[in-house]
Amino acid sequence: MERVFEEGTTIDRFLLDTAADFPESTGQFVNLMQSIVLAGKMISARVNRAGLSGLLGGTGEVNVQGEFVQLLDEYANNTFKRALEHGGHTCMIVSEEDEAPTLVPERFHSGRYVVTVDPLDGSSNIDVNVTIGTIFGIFARKTPEGTAATLEDALRPGSDLIAAGYIVYGSGTLLVLATDHGVHGFSLDPSVGEFFLSHNAIRVPERSTTYSINEAYREQFGEGTRAYLDRLKDPARKYGSRYIGTLVADFHRNLLKGGVFLYPGTAKSPGGKLRLLYEAFPCAYIVEKAGGAATNGKTRILDIVPKELHDRVPLVIGGKAEVEEATALMSPFPY
Ligand code: AHG
Ligand code: MN
Ligand code: MN
Repeated sequence: MERVFEEGTTIDRFLLDTAADFPESTGQFVNLMQSIVLAGKMISARVNRAGLSGLLGGTGEVNVQGEFVQLLDEYANNTFKRALEHGGHTCMIVSEEDEAPTLVPERFHSGRYVVTVDPLDGSSNIDVNVTIGTIFGIFARKTPEGTAATLEDALRPGSDLIAAGYIVYGSGTLLVLATDHGVHGFSLDPSVGEFFLSHNAIRVPERSTTYSINEAYREQFGEGTRAYLDRLKDPARKYGSRYIGTLVADFHRNLLKGGVFLYPGTAKSPGGKLRLLYEAFPCAYIVEKAGGAATNGKTRILDIVPKELHDRVPLVIGGKAEVEEATALMSPFPY
């Protein structure tokens, strides 16, 4: 059910009011979101001061994805896990930065929710003060509370998500949360350390004149992707291109202004680059709640069942009509 909230509502008030719609609610979801909000504020503060506190650059380590770990990646991952572990609302955390899932020990009370997270998205932009973000998805566990969570709680279709969101650390910090109550954006007022509702009931325009893709890979893309790009370049369609190189920032811009983002498969990586559980699933959940669509070039992202925690997937996401057009052209081809 969608409700209209007044601008300026604090995120706490929003969470408590919407929880009241569910009489069976035990408060675990509100507590979980409060922990995510705390982690977001801590990461935001650290991102803003990174240049001053020696937090730019790499740790010298390579993560499970084979990518260089930045100091801020590590800080964001640890902050997120610490914030979630102690609240009694989470049983398992699946993070981009950790090969294995983090199981919340029973002594902290292992709660109802499974959280998937890309603690810091857009690592290559950290050192150059370009927008980065945190992406998260939330499942309600399948296994009973009070037992250890298992992989079965995380390896499930994205349509099982009960909420998803992201925090962008840009010229301002904004948290976007999607639930059955729709998609809402909350801006952080750093002077009081509180998120206030600033973007009520976000809807993504069906069509736009913006596309976002790393066109340097054009010759490696499949035939369908290339045909789609050629079509968009028809001057009559008046498309322009925007590519930040931080998924969550590109996605956020397109969500508000309209647009289509593509990270398709290539000859070298037919399975794409972006990760299913903590990048594609949350964004797909959010875009659908806002009236848009997301596919892997063939099928709906939220219908895919991950085989492993760090599965990758091609991603086409944005306005409904644009995603449909791209998918129709891409689907006959292997990637
Ligand atoms: P991460 O920093 O979490 O590893 O994600 C980086 C991703 C994503 O944010 C972005 O859209 C994409 O990498 C950019 O990749 P290219 O440099 O290949 O365009
Ligand atoms: Mn990422
Ligand atoms: Mn990341």
